[in-house]
Amino acid sequence: MEKPMTGILRDHFPILAHNVYLNSCSYGALSHEVEAAFHSYLARRHEVGADWQGWMGLQEEVRALFARLIGAVPAEVAITTSASAGLDSFVSALAPQGSRNRIVVSDYEFPTVGQIWHAQERRGFEVVHVPEDEDGRIPFSRFEKAIDERTLAVSIAHVCYRHGAVNEIERIVRLAHANGAIVVLDAYQGLGQLPIDVHALDIDVLIGGALKYLLSSAGLGFLFVRKELIERFSPFVTGWFAQRDIAAMNIYAHDPAGDARRFETGTPPVPNLYAGKAGLELVLEVGIERIAAAIATLTARLKEGADELGARLATPKDPARHGAMIAIRSRDDQALVERLAERGIITSCRDGNLRVSPHFYNTEADIERLLVALADHRDLLA
Ligand SMILES: Cc1ncc(COP(=O)(O)O)c(C=O)c1O
Repeated sequence: MEKPMTGILRDHFPILAHNVYLNSCSYGALSHEVEAAFHSYLARRHEVGADWQGWMGLQEEVRALFARLIGAVPAEVAITTSASAGLDSFVSALAPQGSRNRIVVSDYEFPTVGQIWHAQERRGFEVVHVPEDEDGRIPFSRFEKAIDERTLAVSIAHVCYRHGAVNEIERIVRLAHANGAIVVLDAYQGLGQLPIDVHALDIDVLIGGALKYLLSSAGLGFLFVRKELIERFSPFVTGWFAQRDIAAMNIYAHDPAGDARRFETGTPPVPNLYAGKAGLELVLEVGIERIAAAIATLTARLKEGADELGARLATPKDPARHGAMIAIRSRDDQALVERLAERGIITSCRDGNLRVSPHFYNTEADIERLLVALADHRDLLA
């Protein structure tokens, strides 16, 4: 079989000319397209000052792009300034229903997710954690033990930000629904690198943002809520952009929109919408399936090379259980990131692991350069 192409659109990303950039799990590389988008926002400010009409149209374009990315319709998507803001808004609309007051949270969650759920304890929620093993796996039986008729919501990450392991979404969703609970998926670490279809997977709520594999900007996120659920939830965290008619300017009432816009709050992050559109268009133009295939070629070589070095992975080896991020155990992860950076290799670390996260613009040569550098710093591998 022919190997999928890697190094796609490399010359669109100036940083690649002088660095081996393997840090898309933290912040995607800046493209000429996204840079130009920021400039066009500034140009518009000089030309017309306040282009509210244009910006509202832009927000709808970005909403439609996020929807396309996850297989949703635009009316199911709220534009936010972060993934946290989307979750905060949704959670504010959730109330315990008698003894059904438990939120089951997997150990793969990003801190903001756990923190937001724990902040609800004084509103009568109980947070139950599903722990991971020493080797970073969460056996499905642990979800079976944690989820029951007291569970209101199950909160899972698609991909763990610490070591890149993927939660078994399909099985967890089936289990949650069989117990009458909704599923909140934090898709942030998977968006732009792994295919996802919210309706095929029967996801109820999803949060994400634009700065990682979506190649856009900080300050732009979104929240998906399944159509059938939207009108059941009326958030306390709200504002004028959540109203049915934003232009009504009615100080005497709160009339939330009938679609997912009801989860929005104030003025949208206009400059980031420019960047968001450019980044999302780039990703969708390359195509998620093609991106996933390119990444799989690179991670396969990385795992093989790491093995040859005797490095220990924190990420499961099975390609079905991880995406772009491969985490390598280190004695001193921060020092390793710094040593690599001195050689122009950009990575990041969490929880004692070096995180290596290629995207479609990386090549096999990037992986080889990393492996040579890791061999020189074997003393920092655990
Ligand atoms: C899985 C995951 N969820 C959430 C976040 C944070 O999102 P935000 O800062 O947009 O709230 C991150 C950021 O690194 C993440 O990796």
